[in-house]
Amino acid sequence: MDCFEPPIIAVDHCTGCGACVAICPDQVLELGDTGAARWHGEQCLLCGHCAAICPEQAVNVPSLADSLGLESGVEPVGRDGGAAAFAELVVLMRQRRSCRRFTGEPVATGVLRDLTRIGSTAPSGTNCQAWWFTILPDRCDVERLGEVTADFYRRLNKTAANRWYRLLNRLFGSGSLDTYYRRYYQSVEEALRQWYEQRIDRLFHGAPAAILVSADKRSSCPAEDALLATQNMLLAAQALGLGTCLVGFVVEAARRDHRIGRLLRMPADERLYAVIACGHPAVHFLRPAGRKRVAPRILRIGEEEKWKQGAE
Ligand SMILES: Cc1cc2nc3c(=O)[nH]c(=O)nc-3n(C[C@H](O)[C@H](O)[C@H](O)COP(=O)(O)O)c2cc1C
Repeated sequence: MDCFEPPIIAVDHCTGCGACVAICPDQVLELGDTGAARWHGEQCLLCGHCAAICPEQAVNVPSLADSLGLESGVEPVGRDGGAAAFAELVVLMRQRRSCRRFTGEPVATGVLRDLTRIGSTAPSGTNCQAWWFTILPDRCDVERLGEVTADFYRRLNKTAANRWYRLLNRLFGSGSLDTYYRRYYQSVEEALRQWYEQRIDRLFHGAPAAILVSADKRSSCPAEDALLATQNMLLAAQALGLGTCLVGFVVEAARRDHRIGRLLRMPADERLYAVIACGHPAVHFLRPAGRKRVAPRILRIGEEEKWKQGAE
């Protein structure tokens, strides 16, 4: 981790309660001879749990900012939890729907930046926070990305339409061209026709802005990190009254077509994991849409084994 600075403990404030020592996931804090906590070791996750739990505010982690620095100025603080927070959170989650109709109104760049800061509150593997957020605040740039993506699918459709290529791909490759042809060829063909002939945007749905979430390929779980940050941003946008829609078609195209990475000025060690179309919604849902019912499996392995042993 670059610019590593360990937690600093103000010994004159520390009462030696040991809360930071107990919470530290890396076990790099201990109570020293003086009774105050101290950092020992060479590294730490920089998770900031020690500072968050200290009743005396005696711990400071210089590498971490106390505030997200939101430009909107409102920064919710304090301990959350409780029935009201739970209810609000669940309502927010249920109300978030993919938005596919936007007004033309631009989204202030400061708001888009705030969303990315909120994204960074997500968990990440080994707390690496190795995500990157690229904001396209202008519709003309969203369209440019749409144009390159459309060109990728135009070429892919041309290849997939050729049954000899599909046969070769089945015999010597993964057969994915066949699957693509069956599932997407027709709808992509129609979307491309609408784009080229009528400028109907089936990719970004006319969104005035987009946020692209990439992560360092070399980190332990870049996809998970990027997608967790993404979900935070979707929820925050919903709470701000903005509409969002994930655009997986661009992510897939970027994986196969280097022109997209170049257009986005994306370094070679980064990979794109999510594209969020963002804007002011032109449609307001009256109620949350349903979901398939979830039937979790309840597993009590210990009891099952006991029962088996009893039966033997
Ligand atoms: C990884 C991923 C990729 C997606 N890609 C697209 C896309 O390219 N275009 C689109 O209109 N919606 C896309 N969606 C949105 C889903 O269709 C949508 O989340 C799903 O239908 C559920 O609807 P809801 O988001 O309104 O709850 C994507 C969603 C995910 C999770």
